[in-house]
Amino acid sequence: RSLVVVRAEAQSINPEIRKNEEKVVDSVVVAELSKPLTAYCRCWRSGTFPLCDGSHVKHNKATGDNVGPLLLKKQKE
Ligand code: FES
Repeated sequence: RSLVVVRAEAQSINPEIRKNEEKVVDSVVVAELSKPLTAYCRCWRSGTFPLCDGSHVKHNKATGDNVGPLLLKKQKE
């Protein structure tokens, strides 16, 4: 019985979306949120997925990519 280990190469996951930006981050204002800000991962590298844990920073440095989280912001009253 053999074990095959496949190592993932550092690759960009964003081939063409808004590549002129250092980091692609979008925000949505939501009226009913318990916290002022919640960040959802869009890079698939977070250890707390679906929430962002900042892992996109390491991914961006390794690949030259520009991915970032989706931010949900509580609407100010
Ligand atoms: Fe994936 Fe932040 S860890 S967007």
